[in-house]
Amino acid sequence: MTLRYQAVGWNPQKTRYDRALALGVLGYVALFVGVTATLHPTATAETMILRSVGTAAFLLLHVILAIGPLCRLDRRFLPLLSNRRHLGVTMFLLAAVHGGLAILQFHGFGDANPFVSVFTANTRYDSLAQFPFQPLGFVALVILFLMAATSHDFWLANLTAPVWKALHMLVYVAYALLVLHVALGAMQSDTGPWIPTLTGLGAAAILGLHLAAAAKERRADVPVDGGAEEFVDVCAVDDIPERRAHVAVLAGERVAVFRWDGKVAAVSNACQHQNGPLGEGRILDDGCITCPWHGYQYRPDCGRSPEPFTEKVPTFRTAVRDGRVLVDPRPLPAGTAVEPARIGGADDDATAPEHVAPAGPLGRDPDDGPFHVLYLPEDPPPLRRVTRRAALATVAVAWLVGLTLASAQRPFAPASFDFGVMRIFNGRLEEDPVPSLVMSTPRGDGPPHRLLLTSPFKWGAAAEIAGRDGEIVTLHGSLAWRDGRMLLEIAPGSIRSGSPDDGDGTGAPEPVGAPPMAGTTAVVPLGEHTLRGEIVDSKCFLGVMNPGDLKVHRACAVRCIRGGIPPVLVVRDRRGVASTLLLVGSDGRLVNDDVLSMIAEPLEITGSVERHDDLLVLRADPETYRRLPDGSRP
Ligand code: HEM
Ligand code: FES
Repeated sequence: MTLRYQAVGWNPQKTRYDRALALGVLGYVALFVGVTATLHPTATAETMILRSVGTAAFLLLHVILAIGPLCRLDRRFLPLLSNRRHLGVTMFLLAAVHGGLAILQFHGFGDANPFVSVFTANTRYDSLAQFPFQPLGFVALVILFLMAATSHDFWLANLTAPVWKALHMLVYVAYALLVLHVALGAMQSDTGPWIPTLTGLGAAAILGLHLAAAAKERRADVPVDGGAEEFVDVCAVDDIPERRAHVAVLAGERVAVFRWDGKVAAVSNACQHQNGPLGEGRILDDGCITCPWHGYQYRPDCGRSPEPFTEKVPTFRTAVRDGRVLVDPRPLPAGTAVEPARIGGADDDATAPEHVAPAGPLGRDPDDGPFHVLYLPEDPPPLRRVTRRAALATVAVAWLVGLTLASAQRPFAPASFDFGVMRIFNGRLEEDPVPSLVMSTPRGDGPPHRLLLTSPFKWGAAAEIAGRDGEIVTLHGSLAWRDGRMLLEIAPGSIRSGSPDDGDGTGAPEPVGAPPMAGTTAVVPLGEHTLRGEIVDSKCFLGVMNPGDLKVHRACAVRCIRGGIPPVLVVRDRRGVASTLLLVGSDGRLVNDDVLSMIAEPLEITGSVERHDDLLVLRADPETYRRLPDGSRP
């Protein structure tokens, strides 16, 4: 307790509990990642990890929030409650991996501080459908961090119980933020009907359990009105089982009236540790009231914890007359010694007062079932059975949910990125309208192929190729591709003038591509068109991230496009096949900074379409882009 802040030592039941937790979580993540990798081989590893740990954390949060009311409804669940701290810390670690990876992936390596970017990349706070859902997750993660960091009893003692309790009640704020995080973000664009359905069911279950537990408490809390009387008749002596308590509500406060060894004494029902219900505790062989939540102890005759611990709770004067228990509803200062009332015929308390307020109905059933003590090596067998069944059922349901969510994900695009694989390319650099490498097609027929160029991470390649327009070069890079369109991430500093000599005998690998034949570049006007689509950053969309479009990708696309990566309009035909058009202004200038607020939204753009080699370009003034109503898919 307050003297030393050491964790309760490992014992068989704690070890079993933690093993079940580790198995449940690792199994869930492995199942989720395994199913996603099998069904969607083009999904990027970050996406699989992000989704598996995000959903695991959210599920675990539901389990944690359900345990409290479950224990109020059925005390046999109490062993789950006293071990809840490990669930909480595990949940935070999963959430931290999810949030940290999301910040790194979507906001890192770009032109802004990633933490600032979480709040500023998407600024559509005015739209429910486009609402920035990531800040909601961020604030929730900060709350979960504060809770995990202060979960040790050291902090409980130093912050004081009320502050600690208030801080930990913020879990409900975090939960509400996360429901919105999932509802406003992930579920609207990417994961089919299962996430919304399960999130709704989860929220309904948590709310339902809390309401049911509150109703049970309210039913049990029958206030006994003492009026002006000094003592109140709270129950019959026989209503209190040996070493247990009857809880009465006196002057608005719950009072636990214990009976043991022919005596009766009353203390406040609220444990000093975390407000646990002392009246649901027991008096153990050492003569101390033992809290059912984490085993803090108090002496019934003075409300003080046994030496060397220092907690104390308020006590109450008691008396016994004619087999009835009488309690003075005015609390004595915490830790005040009171002589217990004696039970039994002639021994009935001689100090019993004259005027006694009549008894109210008996509020709560005194609990007669087996009792869990946190630091004992084993719970009684009936409790062990309940804990085992609850753990097995929870793991089974969680794995089933993981399996369902993993298999129900929206199909991933046939897009890929040769991460870490460098190839040599040969072609002609073009700065205009965006950095590209122009290569002849393999057989030299048809228009030359334009490979969009970018620098690593979230940066365009304009600086890398500045002043080299029209130059024949070889360069190293990693390829991303989707539906026949390709993009090359250049290895910085790898551009060399000229083509490598064929058969130069150096054993160097053959470059991919060759410069186009002289005079083959052509800009072909294709007329005025009105197109409906979504703006994405070309790099992620063409395969560097998968998925690289829709709302989940919006923040990352903002960083990429601000960093100079060409924005493209994705237009889908009736079958859903995507084509991309590079966006430039009506005067041919780059429009990166003008489109930032419209990324990932349904848009209609009217402008003139041109073909530069095999690259489609849409010329239009961004001021004329028209937002389509939220929710309409282009
Ligand atoms: C810094 C804080 C956070 C950020 C930046 C963040 C970001 C994201 C992103 C980008 C997605 C969409 C991923 C995708 O669909 O590919 C997502 C989804 C999700 N997040 Fe978070 N998140 C954060 C915190 C949290 C926390 C604390 C939890 C739960 C404890 C959580 C639970 C979820 C869940 C359940 C999903 C939906 C499943 C999924 O699609 O992955 N997130 N989050
Ligand atoms: S509330 Fe934790 S021991 Fe009582």
